[in-house]
Amino acid sequence: MSLDWKASRGGPVTGVIEVPGDKSISHRALMLAAIADGTSTISGFLEGEDTRATARILQQLGVRIDTPGPGQRVVHGVGLHGLKGVDSELDCGNAGTGMRLLAGLLAGQSFPSLLVGDPSLSRRPMGRITTPLSQMGARIETREGGLPPITIHVSNGLQGIDYKCPVASAQVKSATLLAGLYAQGETSVLEPQPTRDYTERMLAAFGYPIQFKPGFARLQGGGNLRATDVSVPSDFSSAAFFLVAATLVPGSDLLVRRVGMNPRRTGLLAALRLMGADISEQGLAEQGGEPVADLRVRYAPLRGISLPAELVPDMIDEFPALFVAAALASGVTRIEGVAELRVKESDRLAVMSKALAALGCKLEETTDGAVIEGGSLHGGRIDSHGDHRIAMSLAIAGQLAAGYVEILDCANVDTSFPGFLDIASASGFSLQVA
Ligand code: S3P
Repeated sequence: MSLDWKASRGGPVTGVIEVPGDKSISHRALMLAAIADGTSTISGFLEGEDTRATARILQQLGVRIDTPGPGQRVVHGVGLHGLKGVDSELDCGNAGTGMRLLAGLLAGQSFPSLLVGDPSLSRRPMGRITTPLSQMGARIETREGGLPPITIHVSNGLQGIDYKCPVASAQVKSATLLAGLYAQGETSVLEPQPTRDYTERMLAAFGYPIQFKPGFARLQGGGNLRATDVSVPSDFSSAAFFLVAATLVPGSDLLVRRVGMNPRRTGLLAALRLMGADISEQGLAEQGGEPVADLRVRYAPLRGISLPAELVPDMIDEFPALFVAAALASGVTRIEGVAELRVKESDRLAVMSKALAALGCKLEETTDGAVIEGGSLHGGRIDSHGDHRIAMSLAIAGQLAAGYVEILDCANVDTSFPGFLDIASASGFSLQVA
């Protein structure tokens, strides 16, 4: 049965909130801890469906993972060559990160694997990872058209490669580097634009020799990872919904505590500031090798912008929220070069364009972007297409629309942001299960 939400005009967004742990870091912490020597602890782990699917898969592969409390994991590493194959399929659920990174990790193993996903994940392109992995010598297959499931045959050994990645994708880079751990010689990845560098940073934190700089990473296969303790900061992409909501709703004044501020993730902050947002960073600190800060957001009227192209990879998950900000700004916002949005959990360009148009926004969808004329929104009934970030973004739209906004198919919010409804309601949203 579909879980639907009903949103209506809410009060100002106020108070002090903390959002759950970073999804990208939680996936990587589990995977690297699993193949490390010794026992690692993870705190601040995201208790989302996506990251729990990765934990379940690693358990299937013979890794003991204890859960002493919510957001905590103790991972008993089995060493680089200690994973064990299973006959059953490995279900990544809705998680593109889980599937793509695990494919890299499993490409060089001496056992076969079958990676499957839910209907949304089963529509997402995997050719982008099977290309470099095959070039390394992996025997890996997808369904026709490069779609999941991914079948990985017993490896005959991998060779390192210098991979010039055609897409700016941290998942492709990470899959290649993880396979590179099992390859002979050196593996390097050169990106068209720098993407999030959590795999690189975390390999270094697990004592694995790696060289990296924005847009480039290189490592040698065959080393060892040493267990370590990982403290996961709050996910900027989850904080993003509240940054946009508090900016848009008059009278808002919100503090979002200890948000991960890796510069490869904070593009939305720059975009919102260009639009006129009032967001200040306080108490900059470090957590688990990552910058974190408290973000204070106060209501500010926004104006449309032409989005600078260099911000795109640093805010790749934030476009549904930016679309809502643009729809409620004064003037026109032009967004280009974001065709990647078409292959996320849904076709986010099409789904957001259709959703905002249904709420009365004047907007033109282009092949790789949109031109959004800001104004006001009215109520309506909209399908989120099971895309967590679309559902949460439309919940923001509902806070400002004149009339009820019904949002269909919201259960997948639990993939990345369990507890969203409670935090949103406590901070002033008018949002309920329909
Ligand atoms: C992620 C990389 C991005 C992002 C996704 C998480 C990661 O995907 O959209 O939510 O953890 O590496 P792409 O690599 O496809 O851009």
